[in-house]
Amino acid sequence: MPKRYLVTAALPYSNGRLHVGHIAGAYVPADIYVRYLRASGAEVRFICGSDDNGAAIEISAMQEGRSPQEICTQFHLRQKADFESLSIDFDIYGGTHQPEYREMHEQFSQEFFRRIHEKGYFSKRRTKQLYDPVAQRFLPDRYVRGKCHYSDCGAPGATGDQCDTCGRMIDPLLLIEPVSVITPGQRAEVRETVHWYLKLNDLEQPLQNWLETKRGQWRVAPLNFALGQIKQGLPERAMTRDISWGIPVPLDDPDAHGKVLFVWFDAPIGYVSFTAAHCAKADGDWRAYEKWWADPETCIVHFIGEDNTVFHSLTWPAMMMADGRYQLPSFVVVNNFLNFRVNEEFVKISKSSTPADSPVWVQEYVKHHDADALRYYLTAIAPETARTAFDEKSFAARNDNELVAALGNFINRGLSFASKYLNNAVPGSAAQSEADREIVAKADAALQAVAGHIERHAFRAALEEMMAFARVCNEYFGKREPWKTRKTDPPACEATIATCVHLCQYLAVMMYPFLPNSAAKLRRTLRWSDGPVRWVAPEPLPAGHEIETPQVLFRMIQTREGAKE
Ligand code: 2FM
Ligand code: ZN
Repeated sequence: MPKRYLVTAALPYSNGRLHVGHIAGAYVPADIYVRYLRASGAEVRFICGSDDNGAAIEISAMQEGRSPQEICTQFHLRQKADFESLSIDFDIYGGTHQPEYREMHEQFSQEFFRRIHEKGYFSKRRTKQLYDPVAQRFLPDRYVRGKCHYSDCGAPGATGDQCDTCGRMIDPLLLIEPVSVITPGQRAEVRETVHWYLKLNDLEQPLQNWLETKRGQWRVAPLNFALGQIKQGLPERAMTRDISWGIPVPLDDPDAHGKVLFVWFDAPIGYVSFTAAHCAKADGDWRAYEKWWADPETCIVHFIGEDNTVFHSLTWPAMMMADGRYQLPSFVVVNNFLNFRVNEEFVKISKSSTPADSPVWVQEYVKHHDADALRYYLTAIAPETARTAFDEKSFAARNDNELVAALGNFINRGLSFASKYLNNAVPGSAAQSEADREIVAKADAALQAVAGHIERHAFRAALEEMMAFARVCNEYFGKREPWKTRKTDPPACEATIATCVHLCQYLAVMMYPFLPNSAAKLRRTLRWSDGPVRWVAPEPLPAGHEIETPQVLFRMIQTREGAKE
């Protein structure tokens, strides 16, 4: 395993609140991965921040009659607080248009653009573009909606940049029945403008060669999707826009006047500029970012949702190839969408159709439930290979039947026994039996198996492995019957409970990436090490070591809801 990792999670657009779909798509998996890597001794930076530029923010501002800066700062702060409330623990949460980061981000983005321009990877083209004659402005990207132009899709609601149904990039001029989103019902017209196009077609072969090296390492569907796009031929893509909210195009050319960089050009550069901003704060030298981006000893891993696949597996690597200074990502970990299940139907979570007080909004969820319960559920139903859905009933059931009844139950049984009958202390283990040694060997195997799954980004399998182990621990406790041996064979009883305490230590390590708050609580109960969690087989706490009286680790949801009614 490499020793240095730069992990990024997609920069969310700062024009709305975060919901469980966002969290499952990129953030909980990335946080699990980072916590595991750190516990394994790797040097890690975990980078995120808000995507503040471009059409999405400008449109929201227009709709609310406020400035884009007001909107993106309001939601930047909201989203930052949402992440914190779920213990998603970035090293830096930057923002591409937030006062603290804007200048550095602009410099990095403009430098990137200039270099690609100098190296001849842009073609300047006079082109036709959709235009709203009433609003008197061009309609790039999300400013226009229509039906997807791919004959095998044709879904309504495609925007000028992307079809969310089939995931492909849209050529806005081919959109069927294009309508302006600024002037309701206004059919878009075609007018001429000038833009700079990234010659993706010139980079097809290097992109293909690079992607071919990822077979067996990346998830199959997004990799095949990216390779399939290359097979069909990559069209040149405009990297500039006729809007006012963004980073000015840094060219001394009258045609560049008033234009900004395409938001998908500057957003991934945010990963780099925020790394530099973090280095400035943490190391006192922003240039230290090169250690993370230019040194092949660093493994770069991007976590994204399915709708970002094209940009992370093709456009961004193409930009990096054209720029030439940085190494390409080692992994792009893609999750599918997570929908919301209402009355047996899967619906998309959205501002317009999902009630504002629904617990699928992170801000609402944390008013009622614990962060770890959501982290658990979203990992248990992680959309790693197909879309899944958040279902309030199954959320409560899995919390109660799995977290409480399996994991919490074992920990509580073992530690309560020590608390009640053994003076809150770890008993001696001189009478250890074969069964006691066997379960510790199973703990070692589980620790390794969970690690292996996490290293392969199989977070759902990793969680299942840990839960399977918790069930094995419960069986062990049941078979050893310490409530009987307490009277019939006290040394055996003591060895059982000493083993249970040791198993709780293993569980505190395994829980840490998935359930960081409960893992910390368990460690406090065990009065076990204030230092960082280490992913190694734990030394058993010595006989006589005092522990706290155990508290409830996981709260029931159904019972509490029932009690309320
Ligand atoms: O889909 C989105 O929410 C985009 N704002 C993701 C950007 S990821 C990266 F490139 F910054
Ligand atoms: Zn489509």
